[in-house]
Amino acid sequence: MKKALFPLLVLTMCLLILLSYFSVVDLSKAQRLQDKEIKQETIDTKEEYFYKEELLNLGYTIDEINIIENKVSNINVKQYLLSEKYNYLTDFIYSPYFKIENIKRYEEYYEKNEYTTDEAVLYVQIGLDIPFYEEVKEIDNHYDTTALVNKYNNITNDIAFDDLVTIKKPYSSDGKKKIRNVAYEPLKKLIDAAKEDGIKLYVISSYRTMKEQTYLFNNSLKKNGEEHALLYSAKPGHSEHQLGLAVDFNTTKDSFKDSKEYEWLKQNAYKYGFIERYPLNKEFITGYGFEPWHYRYLGIDITTKMYEQGITYEEYLVMYANK
Ligand code: DAL
Ligand code: ZN
Repeated sequence: MKKALFPLLVLTMCLLILLSYFSVVDLSKAQRLQDKEIKQETIDTKEEYFYKEELLNLGYTIDEINIIENKVSNINVKQYLLSEKYNYLTDFIYSPYFKIENIKRYEEYYEKNEYTTDEAVLYVQIGLDIPFYEEVKEIDNHYDTTALVNKYNNITNDIAFDDLVTIKKPYSSDGKKKIRNVAYEPLKKLIDAAKEDGIKLYVISSYRTMKEQTYLFNNSLKKNGEEHALLYSAKPGHSEHQLGLAVDFNTTKDSFKDSKEYEWLKQNAYKYGFIERYPLNKEFITGYGFEPWHYRYLGIDITTKMYEQGITYEEYLVMYANK
């Protein structure tokens, strides 16, 4: 009996030794982790202290420093603030679109213009502090219905869209214009709905190749001069027409602005995912003169928001897409 118990006793003891070994290992690991955290906290506190001191030396008040502390938490990001004193920092900081890395640009833009601090932040985020066509970025999302081309963003080659479809008569003037499939049904619905309201709409221009846009831009330059051309024609690579998602309705004559067709489009196009892209009084944002005939397909969610807020796509991207 005793002999039989002996191996069991040895086994139990081994188990106990093992268990206590692991709990000691575990405990010391936890202890090390805790030590590391305390050390890190001390470093952070030290950095915070020096950081606050540097801000004080730059001329910020304690109240201002507290605002900065509350709104800007990452110590690495805070480095942006140490090169000079920004007079309106604690105003800019309350803008929902504030990005600390652009603080210098906000400051310069605000001082040069008559905007509120919120407007200055919004417009800098759009890029309006940089002259049109000066710093151009090639887009990499050509196929997205949300792709942005404007005077800051372009394409450099024709995109091989494999989903271009022909806009049949009477939806287009000659039955030959093309549009990307995703926008074709919404376009037909829009034109059908207008017809039911006694409004006749048809497309006179839609998808354009690089060659076509080049011809149109150069033609406008020759005919109308540089100022007019830049205001009403996109440089090659910068036109929404090259994305296959923009249409011009009926006529590009100035009189279209006073037509019942335009009135209808302005109030209803968004319900079908299309939106007036170059509205009156937004020329400084879009970079183009008022084009009541030019509509862009973006999908109903985006166009509804833009319609309700009365904003351009550039504003939408900053305000609702964190761009
Ligand atoms: N007329 C518009 C701006 C274009 O050329 O795309
Ligand atoms: Zn157009």
